[in-house]
Amino acid sequence: MSDGYAHGYSAAEQIRLERQASILAPFIHDGVSFPAGSRILEAGCGVGAQTVELARRSPQATFIAIDRSVESVATARMRVSERGHDNVEFHVADIVRLPFADREFDGAFLCFVIEHLSDAAAVFAELRRVLKPAARIHTFEGDHGSVLASPPDASIDRLVQAVATHQSLSGGDAYTGRRLCAMLIAAGFRDVRVEPCIAYADVTRQAWVDGFTRATFIDMMRVQRDAIVERGLIDAVAWEQGIQALERTTRSDGSFCYTFFRGAALR
Ligand SMILES: C[S@@+](CC[C@H](N)C(=O)[O-])C[C@H]1O[C@@H](n2cnc3c(N)ncnc32)[C@H](O)[C@@H]1O
Repeated sequence: MSDGYAHGYSAAEQIRLERQASILAPFIHDGVSFPAGSRILEAGCGVGAQTVELARRSPQATFIAIDRSVESVATARMRVSERGHDNVEFHVADIVRLPFADREFDGAFLCFVIEHLSDAAAVFAELRRVLKPAARIHTFEGDHGSVLASPPDASIDRLVQAVATHQSLSGGDAYTGRRLCAMLIAAGFRDVRVEPCIAYADVTRQAWVDGFTRATFIDMMRVQRDAIVERGLIDAVAWEQGIQALERTTRSDGSFCYTFFRGAALR
């Protein structure tokens, strides 16, 4: 498996990350707050879509946000500064070789990161190294096996399968959500709790049709199209059929459902 990043760093993906963070914010952030004076590591901050929410919700905590992409960190720094938050420090760093001392942090937060990494055990071991005893870790991941679409359509299954294979060939795992609990326990975390968060869109929930089905899920397919078609995982015709079938779920007689998994545990 190569050590790539399946979604890439396009302008369209930056916009998608922001919209995704907005519609999913209650799932990701409600009940997650950090006390005054604590130092919290945000690993894989991307363009700062979650960072601004962390900084806003825990203004007395200090966040140390890292990502391996120089450009993403620059964008995140700008976004945080534009919002007027002064409680975030940024570093360009690899999550498996963190430039921090042992037991430096009071907590850690990761969102949509483990699912893109080839060695989750190494990541969790490195996070445990930099966390203080009894520090809390929060993780949030998806699982592409959870897609429920109406009307059901085999072309959606083919599209999602191609996307999951692309993620796997890029070093990740699109089915991470269901394994989160076992991964945290295997890594030595205790008091592990994982809860499913169900994103569901139908005609009575138009904000979810627009913000989730369209702007989060279908756009997540779209940003990866060229790489997936070039890899020969699906042809252009089958790709378009899958997208059309997903669009079909947004009509007044359709629905779309996806489950995320939110995990918390103690060092
Ligand atoms: C799907 S994005 C999520 C970004 C952000 N957490 C959010 O929810 O909007 C995944 C991020 O993980 C970062 N990443 C992937 N592998 C990494 C590694 N080995 N070290 C640090 N960051 C990594 C990518 O650069 C990307 O910004």
